[in-house]
Amino acid sequence: MLSDTATDKPELYRQLAQSLTGLLAGERDLVANAANTAALIFTSLPDLNWAGFYFLHAQDELVLGPFQGNPACTRIAAGRGVCGAAVARRQALVVPDVHAFSDHIACDSASRSELVVPLFQGEKILGVLDLDSPSPSRFDPQDEAGVKRLAAIFVASLGT
Ligand code: SME
Repeated sequence: MLSDTATDKPELYRQLAQSLTGLLAGERDLVANAANTAALIFTSLPDLNWAGFYFLHAQDELVLGPFQGNPACTRIAAGRGVCGAAVARRQALVVPDVHAFSDHIACDSASRSELVVPLFQGEKILGVLDLDSPSPSRFDPQDEAGVKRLAAIFVASLGT
């Protein structure tokens, strides 16, 4: 598990990547691996109130997947919310203040900032990994890089 020596973010994410690789080794099931990825992230990263997945169905709708936190919106239309915008733009989005993001979908009123990372399988997008925090400006470029690495480990665990 994560050691007490993870005092800086790059080291924390390096240890988290190592833990996730071990946790998912030998298993390809989408739900099982998404559930364990969400649980590891939620219990290892400080100051989160939600961590989980939305998967793209039929190219025009995101559907809730395994997560940790309060119950959340089940379906998000293509292009809507921070999650839909990350899919439409094919890029990770860091939202320092969700109240300032006009199309933010508030599933949990406690959320103040958000990080959404698309799940790329080659050119195809499987869905997104979404992290919410009750603190404004919780996520910085180091979090974005670290969570992108975790998302890549999750996708690789599924095989081709
Ligand atoms: N805030 C997201 C919706 C999902 S919840 O944060 C879990 C959005 O705007 O897409």
